[in-house]
Amino acid sequence: MSEPTSSIEVDPTDEAGVTSAVERALAEIETASDLDELKVVRLAHTGEKSPLALANRKIGGLDKAQKAVAGKLVGQARGRVNKAVAARTSVLEEERDARILVDEAVDVTAATRRTRLGGRHPLTNLMDRIGDVFVGMGWEIADGPELEHEWFNFDSLNFKPDHPARQLQDTFFVDPPSSHLVMRTHTSPVQMRSLLERELPVYVVCPGKTYRTDELDATHTPVFHQVEGLAVDEGLSMADLKGTLTHFARVMFGEEAQIRLRPNYFPFTEPSAELDVWHPTAKGGPRWIEWGGCGMVHPNVLRAAGIDPERYSGFAFGMGIERTLMFRNNVPDMHDMVEGDIRFSEHFGMEI
Ligand code: DAH
Repeated sequence: MSEPTSSIEVDPTDEAGVTSAVERALAEIETASDLDELKVVRLAHTGEKSPLALANRKIGGLDKAQKAVAGKLVGQARGRVNKAVAARTSVLEEERDARILVDEAVDVTAATRRTRLGGRHPLTNLMDRIGDVFVGMGWEIADGPELEHEWFNFDSLNFKPDHPARQLQDTFFVDPPSSHLVMRTHTSPVQMRSLLERELPVYVVCPGKTYRTDELDATHTPVFHQVEGLAVDEGLSMADLKGTLTHFARVMFGEEAQIRLRPNYFPFTEPSAELDVWHPTAKGGPRWIEWGGCGMVHPNVLRAAGIDPERYSGFAFGMGIERTLMFRNNVPDMHDMVEGDIRFSEHFGMEI
């Protein structure tokens, strides 16, 4: 754009001068290529200091006859310039709107960039679901620390000082040895914590992480999960244990699931049993699978919690979550559960 020719003085009685001021203005208006340029031109040719406005001001000092002629001349001149500005404005506005429609167009058919959503691990979902089964029966969810005191992990649960589970080969002890801290080897210490923290009766489940010095292979992992169950009340018997576990097994493995108890030994239960479950839809055909341990809470455990074993009795159980997932969903290899490959988790649905 050339500089506006707006500094040329115009005499309001000089028809040729006025006309050429109009023509210069019209030429510049016509060549303004966008609204910003047009604004500069408009101010130069119609603003207070434009040649025609200044000429208009001079009319006041003319004599009467001249005034009428000059008034008409300059008035019409300014009218032409204003009209041209208005016309050019609407052309340039249309151009701008058309350009915006093109520049800002959204192609709704364009391919999107797919971002994969994360999801919860199937073990986490299974633990939640197990919690729900028990909450549905009026139980509560309890928890405890993964870095646990030896007293909770062993002594209070009636493990004698020479029990083999206390050996370095099974348990992660934490330095210094005088701290008596271990990475909990099972969720059973939450039994004692719950009994000390809560009023009787106590009905709790605790799903959580546990640690043992195992190497990772198809059926072992040093960090794994268990769910602990504990009920302490007046008049509880082995029948209550069996009924509870039968219900739990059916929710996990289907309506035809059954349980079977085989005598076993655990320091914190007496009698103790190994818990098998009849898995009707197991891969390779229906069969009994070892699912966990259970039993009636040992009187020494109740005593350690300050509970009178003559008045109260209880039952407890504990099973591995990884094992449960393996049997429920036919996962043959533990590696899949710990490696965190999303292709594994996706099979289970990506519930949030
Ligand atoms: N804590 C045991 C383990 O890790 C499992 C267990 C057995 C838990 C019997 C119990 C129980 O509550 O009654 O091998």
